[in-house]
Amino acid sequence: MNQDTLNLTHNSNDDINAMSQTVAQSDIIALLEQTFVEHFGYAATQISHAPGRVNLIGDHTDYNGGFVLPAAINFGTWMAGKARNDRTINVVALDCDGERISFSLDDIAFDKVSSWSNYVRGSLIALAKALPDFGGADLVVKGNVPRGAGLSSSASFEVVTLKTMAALYDLPLSGVQAALMGQQAENEFVGCNCGIMDQMISAMGKQHNAMLLDCRSLDIQYARMPEDLAIIIVNSNVKRGLVDSEYNTRRKQCEQAAALLGKTSLRDVTLAELNAAKADLEPILYRRAHHVISESLRTCDMLAALNRHDMAQISTLMAESHDSLKNDFEVTTSQLDILVSLLADKLGEYGGARMTGGGFGGCVVALTERSHVDNVLATLAEDYHAATGLKADVYLCHAVDGAFVAV
Ligand code: GLA
Repeated sequence: MNQDTLNLTHNSNDDINAMSQTVAQSDIIALLEQTFVEHFGYAATQISHAPGRVNLIGDHTDYNGGFVLPAAINFGTWMAGKARNDRTINVVALDCDGERISFSLDDIAFDKVSSWSNYVRGSLIALAKALPDFGGADLVVKGNVPRGAGLSSSASFEVVTLKTMAALYDLPLSGVQAALMGQQAENEFVGCNCGIMDQMISAMGKQHNAMLLDCRSLDIQYARMPEDLAIIIVNSNVKRGLVDSEYNTRRKQCEQAAALLGKTSLRDVTLAELNAAKADLEPILYRRAHHVISESLRTCDMLAALNRHDMAQISTLMAESHDSLKNDFEVTTSQLDILVSLLADKLGEYGGARMTGGGFGGCVVALTERSHVDNVLATLAEDYHAATGLKADVYLCHAVDGAFVAV
């Protein structure tokens, strides 16, 4: 059992399935090495890692050029690799029943059957456009980011792929470049119109720090997380539905609102300007824009609150963020609302809770001092189950470094 599993077994009953990194990092590396030899008959020369993320505040602001404040978490994706002397890419996915796919770098096509492989394919297309000086590779991948939970398993897959190829071929790939290529893979190949947050934090995260990202300039400001602050992530286990279509609709509504206000992006609109134009906007567009503009302001305020260790302000900002995502942006579900209100009741002024990520299911995040964690989680399971009939998974997290070459 590794460090991350500690404290997670304290729930007396099974209603909270205390999710842990059931396989420690060293065990994952050993498994990758062993599988690699079994498949390819020789040893891997590199093993890289890219983390998943939790967003502490600032959702649906990234594609509006606004601010986000995520942290890279201690759940991620590992990839073992060795360069080949031809143009073939072989990938074995341990989390997909050890499935193995192959393709040529000269003919990268969308894979409708093994859809997981499109993250590799799309990332390599993006890499080839900017840094084409690489050839084939044998790869084995394994992750422990819960899939479909909104914790960026796909961004970590893209970033680890790029990081591995850069290590194998000694390519001068910066973290920001890797993030942009990962986003390009999602936008242009996988078909998800996401912003830049997930890939940037996976590539550029910093241990013990949250990362304020200006999604327009890509400027980064790290904020040290207070030592005694715990990041609690609770998975509602609501399968995220309609994510892509609703996500794209929200993006379009934001663009429409900005255009009606005479700007290219909501980043350039102040709350005063929005309110002055309220009568001219359809109510739904006003509410969408109101969320985005106010959320970006809250995100910057949160950085200051974290730096001051001001729990009461953190609590207020997270509550306001959730309400805004619920009422103005309409991306929460009843179960997410219930989880947040259960957590907020238990936390009071001693911490905050909000949905995190794209919404429509997935996870909520709570911040509180470590001394409150047991108390906060004590009856959460029963209460959530009684209200929804669902079980919650809890992940106790801490902020880790962005992508790195491990071996
Ligand atoms: C998803 C997207 C991100 C971001 C969030 C919402 O995670 O991938 O780019 O837009 O939703 O903040």
